[in-house]
Amino acid sequence: MTATPLSESPLWRWSSQFYERAATEAWSKGTVPWRLTNSVRVAEAYGRMITAWRADLIAAGLKTVDAPIEVLELGGGAGRLAFHLVRWLEAAKVPFQLMWTDAAQSNVEAFRARAFVHERPGVVEALKLDALSERDAPPMAPDVVIATYLFDTLPHDAWAVRGGKVFSRAVRVELPPGDAPECERAVLEWEDVEVDVPAFVRGYAPRVGEGVFMVPSGALRCLARVGGWAHGRCLVLAADKGEPDVAAVQTGGNPKLQRHGGISAMVNFDAIRAWWGWRPFLRSAQAEPDLGFYALAQGLETLAVTRATWSATLGAESLLHRLRELDALLQYPQPVKRLLEVLEAWRFDPDVFVRMAEPLRAAQPTPDEGALLVEAIDRAWESHFEVGGAVDVAFEMATVLHRLGQLTHAARFYERSLEAHGRHATVCFNLALCRLDLGDRERGAALLREVLSLSPGHGGATRILARLGAG
Ligand SMILES: C[S@@+](CC[C@H](N)C(=O)[O-])C[C@H]1O[C@@H](n2cnc3c(N)ncnc32)[C@H](O)[C@@H]1O
Repeated sequence: MTATPLSESPLWRWSSQFYERAATEAWSKGTVPWRLTNSVRVAEAYGRMITAWRADLIAAGLKTVDAPIEVLELGGGAGRLAFHLVRWLEAAKVPFQLMWTDAAQSNVEAFRARAFVHERPGVVEALKLDALSERDAPPMAPDVVIATYLFDTLPHDAWAVRGGKVFSRAVRVELPPGDAPECERAVLEWEDVEVDVPAFVRGYAPRVGEGVFMVPSGALRCLARVGGWAHGRCLVLAADKGEPDVAAVQTGGNPKLQRHGGISAMVNFDAIRAWWGWRPFLRSAQAEPDLGFYALAQGLETLAVTRATWSATLGAESLLHRLRELDALLQYPQPVKRLLEVLEAWRFDPDVFVRMAEPLRAAQPTPDEGALLVEAIDRAWESHFEVGGAVDVAFEMATVLHRLGQLTHAARFYERSLEAHGRHATVCFNLALCRLDLGDRERGAALLREVLSLSPGHGGATRILARLGAG
């Protein structure tokens, strides 16, 4: 097999096929990183940016106060960011329309089946859209485009500068037999090939100097298409892993590809910035290789509100840093009051609740704290977006409520866990304990019998049934 430019290798096609096959499992099994970028806090920050851009459009006389702001999400994946964003925009009473899209039909179907989507016809719509296919276009001129962990998934090209001359860093891909997804099995061999170097790459290469660098050719094509759809006026909110500046590109070296079912690359945001040219390019001050947030604007001369809002939200703060602080905090026992403050600072995000569920189960809250905790759990549940998989949010909530002695409430959450994650012996057993303590002997015993059918010989269930004389 001959070496081809990286963007023309079969890796990207295999990667798209992986997303089509995996559908929501790519998220439930955690094969793609997504929890922070799909969090309530990021949705809030995006909601603020969308509102700000809308204010700048209205100030410029380009939108009326009643007209909805039109948002297009590309490569939306499981759709949790959209879920949080819709709730934020509605609470803030911002008129909007969201066209949510993904190239994988399986993702689009899963998104369409969500209650929050079919409850909002004409406001939240789903569409299969390949950001790079000439056949596809959204039925709107978007004011705002969201692309989270999309640019890393679109094709990239690799280049090498040797003695001042630019070569394509081409790749030969062999696929040994096996059951793992193609992108994980593929064996790559790189070589420098002389080609006609595109003008942009020729202009950009001297910035990097000697060595290897990548150009996110798919992302650049996508941005060009977005500009066309939006008639040259829109705000693109991008979040991705990548190289935030030229220093990171220079230290990066060989093509940096990650394989996680599909394939993804570190996004050279320095190249995107160079390509974006004179147009406003806002970057979070704390952009890190693992995650950076970027806002790319075009078509508005004055973006006072947008800039100020960026500086007050994602431009200034590093959510990755905050997440590390949270993990450090949870290493040691914390008073319930502190945990509740942190949960509130994270806008009652269920993921954050799950991280603190263990310390909360171990804590001994006062009655007042207990009441606040129950309230916090209900608020966090409102933001819950089920993707299945190992994280059982309802069960985590149920066990904290159970410890608090909130039996009726805990039982409701155990039921939710059973509904979403299937009949598990531990959940049935805990629910049986709640039912029995609430005086519901019949349903409690039935659940214990179910525990024994799911887990024959279950000690607790056998003992309690014997005591009840209901074996
Ligand atoms: C890494 S996932 C990110 C998903 C989501 N934005 C998130 O943050 O969880 C990449 C998504 O992009 C989609 N995708 C891949 N190639 C695409 C393309 N050419 N156009 C639109 N979506 C694409 C995949 O189906 C997948 O859902």
